[in-house]
Amino acid sequence: MKKFFIIIISFLIVCAGTIKADEGMWIPLLLKKYNIKDMQAMGFKLTADDIYSINQASMKDAVMIFGGGCTGELVSDKGLILTNHHCGFGWIQYHSTLESDYLTNGFWAMNNKEELVNPGLSVTFLVRMEDVSTQVLKGVTDDMIEIKREKTIAGNIKKIAKKATEGTHYKAIIKPFYFGNEYYMFVNEVYTDVRLVGAPPSAIGKFGGDTDNWMWPRHTGDFSVFRIYADKNNKPADYSVDNVPFKPKKHFPISMKGVKKNDFTMVFGYPGSTQQYLTSHAISLITKTMNPHKINIRQKRIDVISADMDSDPSIRLKYASKYAGISNAWKKWQGENRGLRRLNAIKKKKELEKQFQNWTLKDPYKAKKYGKIISKYKSLYKRISPYQLAENYIFEAAFGIEILRFSGKFRKLVLATDREVGDDDLTKIKEQLKIEVERFFKDYNQPTDQRLFAILLKLYYENVDKDFHIEAFRTIRTEYDKSFGKYGKFIYSKSMFANKKKLLKFIDNYTVEAVEEIRTDPAYNLYNSFVKIYLEEITEAKSMLSGKIDRLNRTYINGLREMQTDKIFYPDANFTLRVAYGKVDDYEPRDGVRYRHYTTLEGIIEKDNPDIYDYRVPEKLKELYENKDYGEYAENGELHVAFTATNHTTGGNSGSPVINGSGHLIGINFDRNWEGTMSDIMYDPTQCRNITLDIRYALFIIDKFAGAGYLLDEMTLIK
Ligand code: ARG
Ligand code: GLU
Repeated sequence: MKKFFIIIISFLIVCAGTIKADEGMWIPLLLKKYNIKDMQAMGFKLTADDIYSINQASMKDAVMIFGGGCTGELVSDKGLILTNHHCGFGWIQYHSTLESDYLTNGFWAMNNKEELVNPGLSVTFLVRMEDVSTQVLKGVTDDMIEIKREKTIAGNIKKIAKKATEGTHYKAIIKPFYFGNEYYMFVNEVYTDVRLVGAPPSAIGKFGGDTDNWMWPRHTGDFSVFRIYADKNNKPADYSVDNVPFKPKKHFPISMKGVKKNDFTMVFGYPGSTQQYLTSHAISLITKTMNPHKINIRQKRIDVISADMDSDPSIRLKYASKYAGISNAWKKWQGENRGLRRLNAIKKKKELEKQFQNWTLKDPYKAKKYGKIISKYKSLYKRISPYQLAENYIFEAAFGIEILRFSGKFRKLVLATDREVGDDDLTKIKEQLKIEVERFFKDYNQPTDQRLFAILLKLYYENVDKDFHIEAFRTIRTEYDKSFGKYGKFIYSKSMFANKKKLLKFIDNYTVEAVEEIRTDPAYNLYNSFVKIYLEEITEAKSMLSGKIDRLNRTYINGLREMQTDKIFYPDANFTLRVAYGKVDDYEPRDGVRYRHYTTLEGIIEKDNPDIYDYRVPEKLKELYENKDYGEYAENGELHVAFTATNHTTGGNSGSPVINGSGHLIGINFDRNWEGTMSDIMYDPTQCRNITLDIRYALFIIDKFAGAGYLLDEMTLIK
């Protein structure tokens, strides 16, 4: 009996005011306060200052935002960075042609001179972060109307950010946390000369393709290599031949020792967005309305595009990146719905809401402050639902039509002409548009788009409430025998946006008088009618409702924090630097089945199938396998490829360094498992796993497969 009590008591001590292991994306600045003890107990051997410090070089100096939505990490003192293949994908494709197809064959610079310049690619380092809640919320009161509050906050933010970066080349960003109860400022340094150093062929970097995407067991060698260049003073500079490799304050040593089950792991990167504190009403809107419709729309796009890609290698190349993007979210939404259903997420949230409601009844102060929240949520979500759905159709279906979205870029020109901007500005806009025209047509196949047009427009027509219909639907009924295809034929034959030569000529000769030609272009016109519906019928009503929901969220989370004093709340991901930590672990996807925590080259050979595009193993890799030519990258004769762990991650964490207890790099994060994709909304420690590329597989590919072992000489390898 006594022993029983001791167990209970120690259990309570562990739980009181602590965090649930594994779940959570934590603020680096606050590790000392909330997490470091827990992390150390789990096997982390360093200090919070080793992760984030402004006084000494720390891990944060080796982690960056890569491009617009990924993470990358430094692995040498010459600016060498690692990220995922799927993060570098767009750039690898940008340099690819049918003749020198780096997507298919891979690319390896054999010296600095051979590295490829990527105009538009940048990496962003965090210089420091700061809690600026008090300054941002200065002058804000509880009873203020939402618009006034937003204005006050925006004004404060502008001032604080300006002051923080005055006289420097830094950029400051201030973001809300906990639905605007707190604000943090991030002072960043952006490097704009980032060159492509190497990428494996897609048959390695994207092995398993969309078939295996979001799934475990996984065998994707999802990495690519870039290098940052700086000016002679090591400061950011746009591309120049005179630039030199960037010398960082810190880079990650790489562990060659591998991982064992239960080893401590930490992921340090930029998770994009999560919604951990949604109510049952919101989850119901997502799982019952939004996700099913979005999945269906994307299914149609996928059907059309993949048929065309299969029929012609040049179309495959053109649509590879677009297709990957479309199918990625399509598959994730399906996993998310399944996971939330399995977790009984709606029911769980309902229970929490009931508990909350009962808690508010305990005293009049709480009743007044929180008593009506839950019922308000219910009616607001009911009202917002049709607008949300229409918005989804505008973005997923209408703007899924490439020519419409593309013609929309010329809105800039129309607006500039309307505003009567000067000649210089007009020239700038024209130059910019010419670049966009080149980029668009490089990856465009008009017949594919025309097929999409008929299907997507019809889908919109059939699924969206009449209030959000456009004029053209009547025309299609009356003048085109209700045929969306016939209408498409008209659009694509008449619009200048379907014709590159015509369009470039139009831009070159553009004068103010020509604006009518854009306005009356049938594709632009159609685009514009959707924009009009969006602005006039959706945004206003929707933002009024979502403003109210924001306000409720802000209050609700405070109430939850008051109610659950024993729990530490982590803020939703918002594409700011976070630490997730957990352990290497396997899992049981369904009854009677347990998935091992790692995969090996053996599995790649098992999957090899020349008839399935996603499973074609390069000859060279097979040779290395036959000869067991693994060098020092194998463990007990096996070459490990990927492993799973319990770190709480999301989109944006791609490319993030995965770090062991000694602060060494053990892998590159690149995905989550299918059974765990609902972790953006509800985390389940038994099912949610992040998927990491074992760093030794990347080194093996660089050295043995690509013969670019010279890159390893730059790295700090811990053997
Ligand atoms: N699911 C991973 C992440 O969200 C990888 C995506 C890229 N790969 C692909 N096959 N589409 O972004
Ligand atoms: N592949 C994702 C990314 O691009 C990471 C996987 C996830 O969503 O967890 O960021």
